[in-house]
Amino acid sequence: MRQEPGKVVLTSTKGNNSDLLASAFNLYVPDGSVVADVTFGKGVFWRNIDKTRYLPIISDKQPGFNIDARVDFRSLPYRDGSIDAVMFDPPYLSGGDTVVGHLNKQYSCDARTSHQGIIRRYTAGIVECSRVLRKRGRIFIKCQDETVSGKQRFTHLELINILEMLGYLILDLFILTTPATPCMRHDYQRSARKNHSYLIVAELRN
Ligand SMILES: C[S@@+](CC[C@H](N)C(=O)[O-])C[C@H]1O[C@@H](n2cnc3c(N)ncnc32)[C@H](O)[C@@H]1O
Repeated sequence: MRQEPGKVVLTSTKGNNSDLLASAFNLYVPDGSVVADVTFGKGVFWRNIDKTRYLPIISDKQPGFNIDARVDFRSLPYRDGSIDAVMFDPPYLSGGDTVVGHLNKQYSCDARTSHQGIIRRYTAGIVECSRVLRKRGRIFIKCQDETVSGKQRFTHLELINILEMLGYLILDLFILTTPATPCMRHDYQRSARKNHSYLIVAELRN
């Protein structure tokens, strides 16, 4: 795949999603691919990607700035096996009470969604994406681990297991560290504050 001169793609970076997705796309998505972003949101993932290299189809449940259609990722209007790559970044945090308001709104978090509810929603989306992806098509899944009621929930491990059970081969796992220190609600802490997220790249094999 295309590599920018002097630029090595690393598994771990400090920065933002726009840079991360651009690097991952350079490495794993051939030019001319049909790419469905099924959770477009504000389109942050695309900011540093040269869209002219791909055939993007952009959707989200919420009306957005530049989406092609309002679509629920659990029921995509695409033919079986018609998509080369999928970007999938659903709401990833549960416990809306502990998630600041604007994040809740921006990411459509649901205050009543449990961690298991988050995983069920990811799974429903992955199953539907598997239908529309062609064989050897690739899925890019963004997620973040969370601590819920003092219990560690390693979302990235759960999703990797689910992907493998559904017939995917994990191609890569990127770790993105936020440059800023996350704000704290309390002046004490019982576990390390998470300041990193993941991008899983997987290929549909079976
Ligand atoms: C974490 S944000 C995505 C951010 C996006 N990747 C970006 O670059 O701005 C999650 C998105 O998932 C969308 N969403 C939540 N549930 C959905 C569903 N069932 N079907 C489609 N989109 C959904 C939300 O509207 C929200 O835009």
